[in-house]
Amino acid sequence: MRDFLPDDSTVLRLIDVRDLGDARPGEELVTADLTSSTEMRAVMEGVDAVIHPGGIAGEDTYGHIRDVNVDGTYDVLKAARQAGTRRVAFASSIHAVGLYPRTDLIGPEVPVRPDTSHGVSKVYGEALGRMYAEKYGVTFVSVRICSFRPRPRDTRHLSTWLSPRDAAQLFARAVTAPPEVLPHGFRSVAGISGNARRWMTPESWDALGYVPQDDAESHAAEVESLRGDPDDLTEQRQGGVFVSPNYRGRTG
Ligand SMILES: NC(=O)c1ccc[n+]([C@@H]2O[C@H](COP(=O)([O-])OP(=O)(O)OC[C@H]3O[C@@H](n4cnc5c(N)ncnc54)[C@H](O)[C@@H]3O)[C@@H](O)[C@H]2O)c1
Repeated sequence: MRDFLPDDSTVLRLIDVRDLGDARPGEELVTADLTSSTEMRAVMEGVDAVIHPGGIAGEDTYGHIRDVNVDGTYDVLKAARQAGTRRVAFASSIHAVGLYPRTDLIGPEVPVRPDTSHGVSKVYGEALGRMYAEKYGVTFVSVRICSFRPRPRDTRHLSTWLSPRDAAQLFARAVTAPPEVLPHGFRSVAGISGNARRWMTPESWDALGYVPQDDAESHAAEVESLRGDPDDLTEQRQGGVFVSPNYRGRTG
């Protein structure tokens, strides 16, 4: 996403626990742990807007998910509020609603149906963001990323793909759209490209000014045959392999 974020006078302060390599022009790289409230407060100084994709991106033990995705997101938001940062965009996930059937077209206001502890942590992040928006005036956009990757790899991705350049545009819009377009300071939006086969509505894209440049359909010929058993739950629900009771993610 870093390759596509607007090339203007914005300074990007990139935070991670791992080495991010060399800083490019306009970047500041900081090694920090989002589970440390002290470190989050330090890195938040002077920040106008936060894009928060940090954390565990798949299923893991409940304890690890809780420490990083739940407590860490709390630390990020608390530090933002304390530093006077007013804009936050959060990398939520399709796994907050992963148990919806693929035959449904869902909007951001449907009841959550998380498919994993990971999905539950995203529901928590969305709820925390809503509370911060309504109570503390921190505008919060939750982007339910579906499948962020350079290109689709299977048939499911024809519905769920979010290309890197669309992701960058969507997150940039999420932290720069006029506050008037965020009722109660909060929006939840589908994090996908302009896929013809999408399972999520494009609600709020117009309000934010997000105009996707990509559609997974242009990769259909490459991946159309790559699908699992249609009788398997993982092929019937939006969350894919995450919906299986046997799925353990990084815990094996
Ligand atoms: N990739 C997808 O298809 C997808 C789908 C849905 C949601 N998301 C969400 O988007 C975000 C990014 O996903 P990704 O696929 O790029 O994952 P990723 O693992 O590449 O990125 C997450 C980053 O967070 C960092 N991190 C982990 N723990 C940290 C800590 N304690 N302190 C600071 N940094 C820490 C990791 O080092 C990593 O660089 C995640 O929140 C993920 O849940 C991604």
